[in-house]
Amino acid sequence: MAFPSAWLDELLHKNDIVSVVSEYVELKPKGRKLWACCPLHGEKTPSFSVSPDKQLFYCFGCHAGGTVIQFVMDMERLTFYEAVQQLAARVNMELPNEINDRELQKQRAYKKRLLEANRDAARYYCRCFVDPEIGKPAREYASRRGLNTEIITQFGIGYAPDTWDSLLKHLKSLNYTEKELIDAGLLVHNSERGTVYDAFRGRLIFPILNVNGSVLGFGARVMGDEKPKYINTGDTPVYNKRNNLYGLNLHKNEKLDDLVMVEGYMDVIGLYKAGVKNAVASLGTALTQQQARLLKRYVEKVYIAYDGDAAGQNAMVRGLDILKAEGLEVRVITFPDDLDPDEYVQIYGKDGFDRLKENALSLNAFKIEAMARNYDLQDENAREQFARHACAFVASLQPIEQERYYRLIGKKTGYPLEALIAQGQRSGGIAPDLSKAPIRGGFRRRAEDGEDSRDVIERTLLLACLKDREALRLCEEKHAAERIKNPTYRALYEAIRTQGTAFSIAKYVGELPDKEAETVSAILREEEATENAVRAAADCLKRLEQENGADEIARLQAELKRPDLTAEERNAVLKEITNRIRANK
Ligand code: UTP
Ligand code: MN
Repeated sequence: MAFPSAWLDELLHKNDIVSVVSEYVELKPKGRKLWACCPLHGEKTPSFSVSPDKQLFYCFGCHAGGTVIQFVMDMERLTFYEAVQQLAARVNMELPNEINDRELQKQRAYKKRLLEANRDAARYYCRCFVDPEIGKPAREYASRRGLNTEIITQFGIGYAPDTWDSLLKHLKSLNYTEKELIDAGLLVHNSERGTVYDAFRGRLIFPILNVNGSVLGFGARVMGDEKPKYINTGDTPVYNKRNNLYGLNLHKNEKLDDLVMVEGYMDVIGLYKAGVKNAVASLGTALTQQQARLLKRYVEKVYIAYDGDAAGQNAMVRGLDILKAEGLEVRVITFPDDLDPDEYVQIYGKDGFDRLKENALSLNAFKIEAMARNYDLQDENAREQFARHACAFVASLQPIEQERYYRLIGKKTGYPLEALIAQGQRSGGIAPDLSKAPIRGGFRRRAEDGEDSRDVIERTLLLACLKDREALRLCEEKHAAERIKNPTYRALYEAIRTQGTAFSIAKYVGELPDKEAETVSAILREEEATENAVRAAADCLKRLEQENGADEIARLQAELKRPDLTAEERNAVLKEITNRIRANK
């Protein structure tokens, strides 16, 4: 339900945020803002602020924030429409559909139009992905990430060509206006230069669908090392990332026991491919209340499975209370060795994931574990500090829950139970604010990209060997023979290597059957290696290693299952496998 913007402006004007919030809590001025203890998440020191100038609120504790409408939505657990209704009633305004039906219908029609544009864009990106020429780099990237045709179809994965205007031209030919396309977030308008161009270029495309199957927006991933890794559709009339969960559309008519919340597109997809089909993603943002409510419509129980790195863990801590506040049962899955869910299932498969799920932590145990991560428990002072902090937290829990968690702290620190209980009692049961945990780490760096097909790389490598003995020596040192897949090229490499300076390409080709002769001759058409053959060879070897990654991962997975592996060997294999998965991203 949309409201005409002039009508909404009037509503906001009449419902001053300070007066509305003051009906719930007492605000005290400090600086340019007014402050109170947050009525949304319960706290002892005020971190909830209202800015009368901007007519916005923000809580530094639970990160809720927005306009007066958002405040009423959060406070009264209402939908946007219901909150607007309530605010309209508060100031005796009539609802617009009672006064101006026409305007409303116009807005509704416009949204429909934007959704159609998105759908046409999604179709176009899919066509580009399968186009023999245009889609080649994308298909190569997708295959390196282990995405098969079934997954690509299921998630509607596409490719935005690396040009400034191919989508623009295509959608204009379907009679969309530039304004519509800019409003949908498909085109970018640079007002300084007066130019308009495609928003996503040279990226893998993940369409974001709502539960009704409408395409609301897109996520677009680079296929190399550039930044930012993802570009996402921003706020548009049809999309707001705070209101949606990626992947939920796959479960519209399903009865589910639980859902697994992950951070990223690739986590949902990787889990799905491994057979864990009930994952949805918050798309890198801290969980919002709207997302929690959306989950609640589907399930009673949610497993949170954020990345194992510190950024993921801290984002998780912030999301947990929001879910709990909506009445969801929350369990937390933590991944070892900084792995993310996608990486984890690539190594351990669905079985491994199911085991983690069985051993998922309760909310409170997870909070204690998360707290412990911020201290070096080998160090006596830090251990003491952790124990103090953690005991204060446990003391704030329900009395019957406390003992279990004191025991957990005891296990981690070695302090006796009585001392911990006494410590908790001294804290007066005031829980520390866990959402203030420092955020360490961040988005991981990417490895190389590889846009050439395997054959091109092998050809370039061989040309380098033909041109320069140094390049050949490098290849021998790096065991290139094992990395070259194409049998014709591998045989050629062996010939170059064994015959040394006596090797003649003309003679070699002359003795080959026609088809192979053509394959070998193609080498001489690769220009790339002429400049610096050694550097070209090094580059090719690295790329081949990436290409080989997938096979190698399979081999290492099998290795990991060997019963006779020592702990040390196992760690080495694990490290190797993780490196390989990451090198393929
Ligand atoms: P991740 O970096 O964990 O991405 O960020 P990922 O989905 O696992 O992707 P791969 O496996 O590296 O390809 C988690 C989520 O955070 C958002 C995206 O929604 C991403 O899926 N994000 C991340 C961005 O919006 N922009 C970025 O630059 C990075
Ligand atoms: Mn990730």
